[in-house]
Amino acid sequence: MKTLAIVSRKGGVGKSTLTMNLAAVSDHSAILDTDPQASCADWSDRRGYLQPPVITVPAGRVRVALRQQNSSYCFIDTQPSAEASLIEIAQVSDLCIIVLRPGQLELDALGATLAAIRAANAKAVFCINQAHPQANLNELIDGLEQHYSVGPVLRSRADYPAAVAEGKAVIEWNPSGKAASEIFAYWDWLKEKAIND
Ligand SMILES: Nc1ncnc2c1ncn2[C@@H]1O[C@H](COP(=O)(O)OP(=O)(O)OP(=O)(O)O)[C@@H](O)[C@H]1O
Ligand SMILES: [Mg+2]
Repeated sequence: MKTLAIVSRKGGVGKSTLTMNLAAVSDHSAILDTDPQASCADWSDRRGYLQPPVITVPAGRVRVALRQQNSSYCFIDTQPSAEASLIEIAQVSDLCIIVLRPGQLELDALGATLAAIRAANAKAVFCINQAHPQANLNELIDGLEQHYSVGPVLRSRADYPAAVAEGKAVIEWNPSGKAASEIFAYWDWLKEKAIND
């Protein structure tokens, strides 16, 4: 089993949305929802408990909860801000996916996330999410790649909030839409370039 933590100490960047959508696009996956907000668990309720299973677990219990998992991929959704639990989750994960929304305030907050990943001595990659559909991100990507690899960019797409409201992933909601093809592209990159590295 590969354990992938979706992290960012900045709130609202799209951690929970990415967790749900990656778990839906990958085979034989599960989600550990460690955020008291329980966004992934609420989404699972709306799905009527279709795959993937979502297990709510306090951040301090992740190590134990992982021992009871036997999926191929276990995605861990994390809460923003909580440094101690983020370090612990990063330590038990094979890879951290740092979600970043392009913007000055998000960049200002990035140092805190990077410090936690380094404190955990964890492997990490970036996921740029909610980028404006036409934004040129070359300069941002060059800067980020000095730290960790950056996958294919996820743009701001109306399919995400529409799908989540119905308990769906974008690949289920609108399989031929741009959001779905971007998620497929990010997952393919993650599998080939990052997880199996
Ligand atoms: N690529 C995207 N395009 C459009 N909207 C998006 C995208 N990703 C996320 N969103 C929207 O952004 C909002 C915040 O997303 P989400 O709750 O997943 O962020 P989060 O990082 O988990 O927040 P928190 O830090 O509070 O846990 C939601 O309304 C979600 O639908
Ligand atoms: Mg969240």
